[in-house]
Amino acid sequence: MSKEILVLKNLNKSYKEKNRDLKIIEDLNWTVMEEDFIAVLGKSGSGKSTFLNLIGILDKPDSGEIFINNKEISNLKERERDILRNNFLGFVFQFHYLLPEFTALENVMLPALVNKDKSRKEVKEKAMELLKSVGLEERFNHKPSELSGGEKQRVAIARALVNDPKILLADEPTGNLDSETSEVIHEILHKINKERQQTIIVVTHSEELASVCKERVYLKKGKLEFSR
Ligand SMILES: Nc1ncnc2c1ncn2[C@@H]1O[C@H](COP(=O)(O)OP(=O)(O)OP(=O)(O)O)[C@@H](O)[C@H]1O
Ligand SMILES: [Mg+2]
Repeated sequence: MSKEILVLKNLNKSYKEKNRDLKIIEDLNWTVMEEDFIAVLGKSGSGKSTFLNLIGILDKPDSGEIFINNKEISNLKERERDILRNNFLGFVFQFHYLLPEFTALENVMLPALVNKDKSRKEVKEKAMELLKSVGLEERFNHKPSELSGGEKQRVAIARALVNDPKILLADEPTGNLDSETSEVIHEILHKINKERQQTIIVVTHSEELASVCKERVYLKKGKLEFSR
């Protein structure tokens, strides 16, 4: 039996505009189970990135509760939020945000070295295994400037997985890539979900990516609409 990994209760988020509040998320309730692989779709400006940033503990809701692995996270102190973000969540964005002065291998190792609970040797082995799993065994020592767009995004995926996150969050991971390169990323996400039982929530405009996900939800007027 898979268990609940993310529970949202009566979530609300608005942005202040000059004369009024711009409501983005409105009384939203949602439960995600372990091993789910969900595409979040919706029009541009519907609030998908805002929504993902709330789940990713990058932003705070105005009200409501967010449980990740049964822990309520919206009222935690900054330091506890940082620890949870680093241990429970992995992020992939449209832009890779790799550090230019470090190699692919070092970029993947960095989030695990911050934790200090594993030796450098263990971290290195883990990073090498992840880079191999995204097909980059020949690229360990390349710097980001020496990698293609698709390769950089594969390094970013490996980096997001290095601390064994409970949930992998991705915001338009192929938004910047051509369709052929995107397909490789779609296959990698599919493989990670299947072989590592990795829970994945991915915001996307891509019908192709949505079609490899197990489930699709639509963000509309502050709420989620479901379709399978
Ligand atoms: N920090 C902010 N302050 C004020 N308004 C914001 C802020 N961030 C986003 N918005 C507004 O909130 C709405 C939702 O933005 P969001 O970025 O979440 O949409 P999105 O669904 O991710 O869009 P896209 O598909 O284009 O990436 C938009 O109208 C946007 O202009
Ligand atoms: Mg967005």
